[in-house]
Formats: sequence, structure tokens, C-alpha cells
Amino acid sequence: MIQSNELREKFLAFFASKEHTVIQGASLIPENDPSVLFTTAGMHPLVPYLLGQPHPEGTRLTDVQKCVRTGDIDEVGDASHLTFFEMLGNWSLGDYFKKEAISWSWEFLTSPKWLGLDPDKLFFTVFAGDEDSPRDHEAARHWMACGVKEDHIFFLPKKNNWWWAGNTGPCGPDTEMFIDTGKPKCCDECSPACDCGKYLEIWNDVFMQYNRTADGKLEPLQKKNVDTGMGLERTIGVLQGVKSVYDTDLFTAAKAKIAALSGRVYGQDEDTTKAFRVIADHIRTATFILGDPKAVTPSNVDQGYVLRRLIRRAIRFANRLEMPEQAILAVAEVYIEQYKNVYPELAAHRAFILEQLKLEDERFTRTLKQGLKEFEKVDARLKAQGETVIDGVTTFHLYDTFGFPPEITKEMAKEKGYEVDMAGFEACFKEHQAKSSQGSEQRFKGGLAEQTVETARLHTATHLLHAALRKVLNDPDVAQKGSNITSERLRFDFTFGRKVTREELDEVERLVNEAIQADVPIVCEQMPLEEAKKSGAIGLFESKYDSVVKVYTMGPFSKEICGGPHAEHTGELGRFRIVKEESSSAGVRRIKAVLE
Ligand code: ALA
Repeated sequence: MIQSNELREKFLAFFASKEHTVIQGASLIPENDPSVLFTTAGMHPLVPYLLGQPHPEGTRLTDVQKCVRTGDIDEVGDASHLTFFEMLGNWSLGDYFKKEAISWSWEFLTSPKWLGLDPDKLFFTVFAGDEDSPRDHEAARHWMACGVKEDHIFFLPKKNNWWWAGNTGPCGPDTEMFIDTGKPKCCDECSPACDCGKYLEIWNDVFMQYNRTADGKLEPLQKKNVDTGMGLERTIGVLQGVKSVYDTDLFTAAKAKIAALSGRVYGQDEDTTKAFRVIADHIRTATFILGDPKAVTPSNVDQGYVLRRLIRRAIRFANRLEMPEQAILAVAEVYIEQYKNVYPELAAHRAFILEQLKLEDERFTRTLKQGLKEFEKVDARLKAQGETVIDGVTTFHLYDTFGFPPEITKEMAKEKGYEVDMAGFEACFKEHQAKSSQGSEQRFKGGLAEQTVETARLHTATHLLHAALRKVLNDPDVAQKGSNITSERLRFDFTFGRKVTREELDEVERLVNEAIQADVPIVCEQMPLEEAKKSGAIGLFESKYDSVVKVYTMGPFSKEICGGPHAEHTGELGRFRIVKEESSSAGVRRIKAVLE
């Protein structure tokens, strides 16, 4: 039976045989993109190229991209939801279009040399057409030319067959590939549009020919692109003939570890199965987030908050299985071992991953203890009042102030014979969220492509800051750990062992402003990675050793490997000011700065 490692290798080998360059997948944390917290699709790091920038590795690319999507976190525990997944993809940047994309998808799926799936079990959807874009007869014709029968093709509306990554940015009609799981039809009109589980999507070919602008208009892209995505977990599930992604080889070792530590058997009853899945999923995602070259640690904001939720939810379910304290570390170790050949960053950050999990486990355990004490007070008060219901405000207070999850309040309440007003809790929660999301809405307003001039300027300032820090701190170990830009400010994380003094920060500011005043042009060149390193360019050397990279030079001030985009002249930046210097995590400092 085909294993997940083989599927990954086969996909890349197939597209390499069609003259695609195998590129390195990107970090899970998007660089300089304030619109999303995590990389959510294989195309995400390629947006600038889909919009027309030339890619240094050519016009046909393929890769495997680690992705995180946490919108459905509460669904995790059923047979198919995951918060982390790998996406296999191939791209044409103004090169081939529908005909080749479709015939190669067909060949990879059905040829005995590749996946060898039974054509009778494959079904396809194409775009039915609307006022934006015509019915995609062309895609349907190409499928039929491959030998697909007409009744295996469904024309569906935009809701099903149109793909975009954000409110703005590259988009277009798509054609999706489904496998018939053999379940009976749910109704006479049963089609891949139903989510009854009969048809399972495994691959999506997007024909990106439009850019959606901020005012909602679709403008044709100069070059037509193809963007495809095949979910590794789902596809391997189909190939291995299992009913749940958790029954694939990807989770065998983790489930065995959870079983060994809990003394329970996966599948023994519904609650146990759910707990195994939640722990297996969340700890895998947490391991990948912590193992990313960009240092993310559990916190109450942004990526750190998602990470915290994942770890704490996993611990709650580990507690339900009565696993020993810190059991999640052992599960993380299983994943580091399992994935280290494909994702060497996990082994490289092993100590960091385990340390952060341990700290969060300790913090959460303390929180739970405090919450328990508070719960006892609530219990005494309600008893005295003769109450039998824990109201929403109290439940929210336990959660908000003591970090005590409402699920636990509910469990404890049940033991003590109370009911919990969960609707009241939800109402408090929503009201609170509405208040606190007024700030974060800003983040999600923009689309992926809304890389405004402001972002480019802050990005250029980030390079100047990086170079100035190295000069002033005179420490060869000062290295970028992360960069994040919103429309208002830049944030730069770097390795350094102590606080940066006010004098040093003043000097850094002075150097950056000197580079801005010099108003030098920003020059971009493409060269092999080795050559870039030799030329003294700094930057994250994440790419493969033989890849071609872009190097941005700003006069004598900075030379750095990077994907762009940047300002054209340093003079466009105005005045640079550091607003904050603080610790980000052990051995990592964080600077926030603005352009005025
Ligand atoms: N970008 C497309 C997807 O994620 C391929 O489905």
C-alpha cells in the first residue's frame, strides 16, 4: 500500500518529469503579509508571482507546502477535520493553461505508473458560468478528451467552482476532482456539491486569470496562471482505503504513543476516539508552528494565541484520557521523528519545541488550579443562595479572568448538580469578542494582494533595520527570526542575548535614517543562492542550495536575500523611528518601528 512519503515524492517527481522546478515550501508564518496569520494554501507564498512578478525559478513550479487552517478547530475530532495539512501543488506562471493542467492531473491520478486510481470512481466539477466569467466548456472538453464520461462532469456555480485566497487578489474558475467513496447517493440530485460524504474532493486546478481589486472588480491578469492543490492527508486516506484521515499512516505512530501513555484503545468508544484525534491533530500542528524557523511562542495575540489554544485544547483532552502530566511532549517527539527528513526544521528546533510545550503545559496546569479554587467559591455562593444554575456572566468570568474553559465549568457543574447557562456564556463571549475584534478587523479587511505601497516601504525599512542592528550590535549571531508588517508598523524579531540599550537603539535609528537620506535606488538581482551568499548577502537561507534567489541591494547599506516587494528609492521612506524594544522569547528580541 502506498505510504504518505511516497505520495509526496511521486507528486513532485511527476511534475519534475513535466519540466517543473521543485521549489522549497515556505514558512508557515507569512512574511510581510498582514492579512492572514498562517500560510493557508500552497499558492499563498506565490501570490506576488501569480500577480505578474517573475519567479526566479521559472514558469513551471511544484512543491509541498505546510499549511494551517484553524477556522474549523472545534470540528476537529470527527473523521476528516485537521488544523494542519500538507498541500501538494503545481503552478504555471503564464506558461501552460487548461489543456495541460487537466491532462496532467488525469495522468497522475489514473496512470498505473503514478496513482493508478480507477477512472470510474473519479468525478469532476467545472464552473457553470455567470456574469463574471463564462461557463467553462473548455475545461469539460479537456476532461472528455482524457476519456472522462459526460455524466462524471458536473457544472456548478461560483460557490463551488471559483477559487480566491482573499477579498482581493488572484482568482478564477476552477475544476475539482472527486473520488466516489461508494456511499449511496443522498438524493436524486446527489453530486459533489452535496456534503453527504459520497464524493470526496482530492485535487483542485484553479485557472487564475483575474485579479479582484479592492472595489470588487475583476480585471484580467496579463498572464494566465494555473494553481493546483492536492491535500496530502485526504488523498492518502483515499489511496489507503481508510474511512478517516486519522487512520492513515500519518497518525499511526502518534496514536500508538497516546495509547501507550493513556492505557486506552483508539476506537474503544466515541469519546476516546475524539480525544485521540484532537491530541494527535493539535500537537502535530503545534509542533510545526513551534518548529518553524520564525519563532512563535504561545501568547494571547495573533499566531501565539492560536498556538496556545491548540496546546491547551490538546492538554484538556489528554487530561480526559488521564494521561500523565507533560504527555504531550512525547507526542510531539513522535512527530519530530516522523517528519524530520521532509521538514528538517523540526529536528533543528527540537529543544525549543519541547521547552515551549513544557512551559505552556505548566502555565495551563497552574491556571486550571486557580480556576478550580474560584469554582469552589462560586459553588459556595450558589449553594448559599439555593441556586441550581451557573449563570452566563459567572461562566464567562471564570473563563476570561481565570482562563477556566467553559467545557470544564460544565463538567464540574454536572458533578455538583448544577446546570450551566451556556447561551448566556455565548452571549457574553460574543459581546466581548465584538469589542475586542474592532482592532483585529483591520487585519482581515485587506486581501492577500493588498500589498500597498506602505507595506513595501516598511519592508524596505526592515532591511535597513536588520543591517543597522548587525553593525551596531557587532554580533555575527544577530539573525532574523521573524518579520511582520501591518499598514502601521513593522515588527522585527532577531536572535540576541540581552536587552538592546537606548544608546544602541539611537545609533540604529541614526544609521537607518542616514540610509534613507542618502536616497539610494533599490536594486534587485537574481542569482544562484551560493553566489548570493558569497556576495555577502544576508537573509534567511531557507531555499535549496541550488536554487536561484533574489537579492535586494540598497547602496552600501544593505544586501539581503528576499522575495520583495520593496520601495524604489530609500528616500521614499520618510523618517524611521523605533517605538519599542522588548523580549520576544528566550534569546530573541523584538523591535517595533514606524515610518513617519
Ligand atoms: N489554491 C487552491 C486550493 O487551495 C488550489 O484549493
